[in-house]
Amino acid sequence: MSKTFLITGGAGFIGSAVVRELIANTDHKVVNVDKLTYAGNLESLAEVADSPRYTFIHADICDAPAMQQAFDEHQPDVVMHLAAESHVDRSIDGPAEFIQTNVVGTSVLLEAARGYWLALKESDPAKAAGFRFHHISTDEVYGDLGEEKPLTSEALTPHSSPASAAKPLFTETTPYAPSSPYSASKAGSDHLVRAWQRTFGLPTLITNCSNNYGPYHFPEKLIPLMILNALAGKPLPVYGDGQQIRDWLYVDDHARALIKVATQGEVGETYNIGGHNEKTNLEVVETICALVDELRPASSSFQLPASSLITFVQDRPGHDLRYAIDAGKIERELGWVPEETFETGLRKTVEWYLANESWWQRVLDGSYQGERLGADA
Ligand SMILES: NC(=O)c1ccc[n+]([C@@H]2O[C@H](COP(=O)([O-])OP(=O)(O)OC[C@H]3O[C@@H](n4cnc5c(N)ncnc54)[C@H](O)[C@@H]3O)[C@@H](O)[C@H]2O)c1
Repeated sequence: MSKTFLITGGAGFIGSAVVRELIANTDHKVVNVDKLTYAGNLESLAEVADSPRYTFIHADICDAPAMQQAFDEHQPDVVMHLAAESHVDRSIDGPAEFIQTNVVGTSVLLEAARGYWLALKESDPAKAAGFRFHHISTDEVYGDLGEEKPLTSEALTPHSSPASAAKPLFTETTPYAPSSPYSASKAGSDHLVRAWQRTFGLPTLITNCSNNYGPYHFPEKLIPLMILNALAGKPLPVYGDGQQIRDWLYVDDHARALIKVATQGEVGETYNIGGHNEKTNLEVVETICALVDELRPASSSFQLPASSLITFVQDRPGHDLRYAIDAGKIERELGWVPEETFETGLRKTVEWYLANESWWQRVLDGSYQGERLGADA
């Protein structure tokens, strides 16, 4: 049956992948609520913009009357809350915006959802019973896995690599220990969502996912930055010694997992989502260099091996050494597994950036924002 999904942050990297997936591969309607910060880009939604099942609302999740109006007008069955400030380096330079959007904004959205759901219980009990509030969060709330300790057998999944058999992974019961203002603000929002479920009975679900990569990724993040710098012959800045380990997931695999959780997950539960792809940052950069060397056009002005551009720079303060997810619960209970390996996903990503220069050129020169602001004025 066709449902209405209210997606916050649908013009961002992961949110736009969820919106594209819902419009392309389901019958559901999508209402996208986005403030269009620097990270929001409506050009990532060009392929769904004309769909009669897609509506865009330009609004801030901290604006309570606007959120109430969005619920009243569109009567959603499912909320998927992705709007956030999401870049760790920016949270170190200016934490206030992170607390405002990620913590205050989430509380405003929870209150709007609760008011709507309580009214729905009176007017349409069946619809209220099916209502879901899905909060999208990060594995960074669990902090740093740095120290390697033996892993218990029940934390291993059929997809665990031999390497992870000897190392700990984040499970849904790992205690929270966030390190950066970003991860602390996300941890705060997760606690609020759990409290609204426990105290008010709001039917919530939470997912905590590892690092995403893929098409339409804003070029301040590691993978797109390295692809674009390698293509342009610019230095490839690697923090510290590049030995920080992250667990990478292709963004469309994450979008499919999120839709599964929102529609089939158990109320009150948390699901970890990860790609079983633990790589050091240096390994990621070296793999990108090899792909760029192989795939860049012969006409490209820079033709030296891209790895000659790798430059080690001073590490980020408080930089966590290792994150790694045990995704066994979502695999066992909801039957989700990633379709892409790191190798196939990264190849698709480099190919996408090569084929979509107009998208990223407009991000780099700022024109994606200029036109948008013009349209709003
Ligand atoms: N990118 C990752 O690797 C990753 C991994 C795990 C979890 N997450 C989480 O997934 C969510 C989406 O991440 P992303 O990488 O797509 O982020 P993003 O920064 O690319 O997009 C965030 C979107 O939220 C919008 N937004 C920001 N503040 C807003 C506000 N106050 N009101 C309305 N809209 C606002 C922005 O305009 C943008 O469209 C975040 O909650 C993030 O914490 C991200």
